[in-house]
Amino acid sequence: MQIKKIGVIGAGQMGNGIAHVLSLGGYNVLLNDINKDILNKASLNIESNLERQVNSKKISSEESLEALKLINYTVSIEDFNDVDLVIEAATEDEPTKQKILSSLLPHIQDHTILTSNTSSISITRLASCTDRPEKFMGFHFMNPVPVMQLVELIKGIATNQDTYESCLQVVEKLGKTAASAEDFPAFIVNRILMPMINEAVYALYEGVGSIESIDTSMKLGANHPMGPLELADFIGLDTCLAIMNVLHDGLADTKYRPCPLLTKYVEAGWLGRKTKRGFYDYSGEKPVPSR
Ligand code: 3HC
Repeated sequence: MQIKKIGVIGAGQMGNGIAHVLSLGGYNVLLNDINKDILNKASLNIESNLERQVNSKKISSEESLEALKLINYTVSIEDFNDVDLVIEAATEDEPTKQKILSSLLPHIQDHTILTSNTSSISITRLASCTDRPEKFMGFHFMNPVPVMQLVELIKGIATNQDTYESCLQVVEKLGKTAASAEDFPAFIVNRILMPMINEAVYALYEGVGSIESIDTSMKLGANHPMGPLELADFIGLDTCLAIMNVLHDGLADTKYRPCPLLTKYVEAGWLGRKTKRGFYDYSGEKPVPSR
């Protein structure tokens, strides 16, 4: 199937990055959020991230202008009546995603493929609350979307090959690389990455090292671009905790138990960069450990 127009649901950190790369790939994009302020913020973010790419000569200013013209914004899901593919990128909360998917069904065409950018929730379960499990799959981008090369493609138990091939074509048109993952909790990237981040929080909790020494160790000792605590703040501590809970519940193995310190930060509302406080405090010019 030839995909021309793509609807993205949720204009947060992931949703606006996804709209950005789809428009650069030449797709017509409809970016939806229930919150008008979030849509306005997303449009400013997309503009400034495209400008970063123009400044570093990754794209030309003409390409940036063309991309901007291809993105439309809407608070109304009814406008998804002519999209060929939907990428749901709302909050990582299963009831919320199910509610959004159900509300979408009366407005989309029969041929429309539905996907979710979920980082950990069962694709088979999400598919089962739609009228088209064979046309449903996981389409998982990494953050920051314009920079990260990988997209995980996850088939649910009922996903058909045509759906997979259509999504693969989109990934290739974006110039990104797809990796197929089976539908098990947190797929591949987060199955491996989140236990590492959780272990870093345990190392902090048990006093093995300070925030700075844990991050410096992994940056300089394992050549990671960010230390695990800095990365946790970047991803969002609520998202990290949600993924650990999905691993713990879904695989029923105590090795995935979330560190109590991670839970405490989330309970405090210290969610990382987005709230200006997580393992680091971002209110000053340079991030400093928050405790
Ligand atoms: N849009 C466009 N360009 C961006 C960007 C964005 N949102 N963010 C960064 N960039 C560009 C910068 O302009 C810069 O371009 P240049 O090299 O051409 O000048 C380049 O990316 C590097 O950025 P910076 O110089 O600002 O900073 P760094 O060199 O420190 O790199 C980073 C930033 C790319 C985020 C790097 O630290 C990194 O790779 N970190 C790890 C990210 C990671 O692991 N992501 C995966 C998280 S897991 C996930 O997403 C799954 C989810 O389900 C939880």
